Amino acid sequence: MLPEIVVADVETLARKMAEVIHADGREALRLRERFSLALSGGSLASAFFPVLARDRRLWFRSEFFWCDERAVPPSHADSNYAAAHSLWLAPAGVPEARIHRMPADAADLERAAVDYEGELVRTLGTPPRVDVVLLGVGPDGHVASLFPGHAALTEERRSVLAVEDSPKPPPRRLTLTLPVLAAAERVIVAATGKAKAEILREALEDESSALPLALVLKRARHPLVLLDADAASLLLPGGP
Ligand code: 6PG
Repeated sequence: MLPEIVVADVETLARKMAEVIHADGREALRLRERFSLALSGGSLASAFFPVLARDRRLWFRSEFFWCDERAVPPSHADSNYAAAHSLWLAPAGVPEARIHRMPADAADLERAAVDYEGELVRTLGTPPRVDVVLLGVGPDGHVASLFPGHAALTEERRSVLAVEDSPKPPPRRLTLTLPVLAAAERVIVAATGKAKAEILREALEDESSALPLALVLKRARHPLVLLDADAASLLLPGGP
């Protein structure tokens, strides 16, 4: 499905993100009595999570998973869990039982990937379908810990993979795979800054792009792309 693209300042984008997630959440709770999200880290967390934390009504009833995590302890400054916890989940009072941290600091990363897949399936069923996936994008076009040209991108069977050789430090990570990200009811990508402009142009306007972002967007059911003016600066006016 072609993504809906919104270009605005970060505060407006964050409010749009909150509005869309709340509408999806109300609908999911009505239909399935369950609402789940998968979070990413990086600039997405620092720019958007504090705004999402403001309206607490939905979060105490939501299940929180991660799209990817770095092999650092949960208290580490580089932990995606730590960012989400301090900026969103703790201020919003989300019960710990609803927070499904990705244990990428485990000694046996392969085992941790299998266990996290089990946790997804136990909470969401088979195959696991998350309601809302929140993705940032790297300047190389990676999403979650799926990097351009990496073998993990071709995984179709498993939901969670151990990555031992991430080109972005740290090298060891856990990541959801393309089929799980794309199966979400909604995929929201948020990106800001000039450094992302070229890969956004490629992923959104070049149909043959094999960038991880392009691969997710092509397969996603309801993709929404939120960009500030710098990130959108190389897009054709009026869209693809
Ligand atoms: C990670 C993040 C990753 C992030 C992108 C973009 O662990 O690296 O979860 O998926 O969303 O790398 O990060 P920036 O927005 O900081 O460039």
